[in-house]
Amino acid sequence: MKTYTLNNGVKMPAFGLGTFRVEPGESAYETVLSALKMGYRHIDTAIMYGNESDVGRAVRDSGILRSEIFVTTKLAKHYGGNEKEIRQAIDQSFERLNIGYIDLLLIHWPNQAYEMNHMVWHIFESYYEAKKVRAIGVSNFQIHHLDDLLKHAKIKPQVNQVECHPLLIQSALHKYLVKHDIQMTSYGPFAKGKVFESTTAEKLSEIGAKYHASITQVIIAWGLSKDIVMIPKSVHEDRLLENFKGQDLKLSQAEILAINQLNRGSRLYTDPDNNTIYL
Ligand SMILES: NC(=O)c1ccc[n+]([C@@H]2O[C@H](COP(=O)([O-])OP(=O)(O)OC[C@H]3O[C@@H](n4cnc5c(N)ncnc54)[C@H](OP(=O)(O)O)[C@@H]3O)[C@@H](O)[C@H]2O)c1
Repeated sequence: MKTYTLNNGVKMPAFGLGTFRVEPGESAYETVLSALKMGYRHIDTAIMYGNESDVGRAVRDSGILRSEIFVTTKLAKHYGGNEKEIRQAIDQSFERLNIGYIDLLLIHWPNQAYEMNHMVWHIFESYYEAKKVRAIGVSNFQIHHLDDLLKHAKIKPQVNQVECHPLLIQSALHKYLVKHDIQMTSYGPFAKGKVFESTTAEKLSEIGAKYHASITQVIIAWGLSKDIVMIPKSVHEDRLLENFKGQDLKLSQAEILAINQLNRGSRLYTDPDNNTIYL
C-alpha cells in the first residue's frame, strides 16, 4: 500500500477508511473489521464519532499486527482551555481505543481564539514527546490558523485534514501545506453525494469509462495522484472493496487537470471560520 512519509519520518498509508456517521456498536465494529480483512490499514475516527471503542476492538480482533495499522483520532473540544479537561478527554480516547499508542492525534476544529489552539497544541506536543502518539496534527485549519500555530509550535503539525473533493479542490491550502511539509488529508471526498450529480458526474464517469472505473474510484485516484491522503467512508462491503480498488487506478495528467477544473469552491461541510460548536 502506498504511504506518505510525514515530516517526522512516520509513514502514513495514503488510503484509509473514514468512520464519520458509522453507527457506534456492531455496525462500526463489523465495518472496520471487514475493511481490515479486505486490506485497509488506516482507520480514521474521532471522539465526536462515538465509535472509538468499536474501532479499537476491531483493530485488536483483526489479528493484524498493531504496527501495520494506522489509527487517527481527533480531540473534539478545547474545553475553554482547561488543561485538565483536555488531558482527561485525550486519556479517555486512549482508554476507549485500547490499542496502546495512537498513530495520529488531530485537533478536530480550530478555535478562532488562537491562544486556545496554542494551548491544545502544547498538550499534544507533550503526548508526542512522551511517545504516546506517533504523529500530531490539525484538522479544518485554514492558512491563517496554521500561520499562527507555526509561530508558536515547538513541533510542526504533521497533518492537516480538511474538506477536499472535486468541487472544493483547496489548491491554495494544498500549496501552502506542501510548502510547509504538512501532509494534507481529504475528507468528504464524495462531496455529500454531489459528485454523483449532473455535469460533475458526467465528467467523472467519462474519465472512468476508459478504465472501467466508477466515479468514487476516479476521485480516489485523483486525490492519490496529488499526494493527498484519501479516507472515504462506507458501511457496505461492496463499496468498501470498490473504493479500495480505486488505489490501483492511474489517471493521466490531462484527466487530473480536467477533474481540477470541476472545482466550484463549494464548501459542503462546516466552515472552519464560522464554527463554534466544538469549542
Ligand atoms: N475532520 C473533519 O472535520 C471531518 C469531517 C467529515 C469527515 N471526516 C472524515 O472523512 C471521512 C470521509 O468523509 P465522509 O464520511 O463525510 O464522506 P464521504 O467519504 O465523501 O462519503 C461517504 C458517503 O458516500 C457513500 N459511499 C461510499 N462509497 C461509495 C461508493 N463506492 N458508491 C456510492 N456511494 C458511496 C457512503 O454511503 P454508505 O456508507 O451507505 O456506503 C456515504 O454516504 C469521514 O468518514 C471521517 O472519517 C472528517
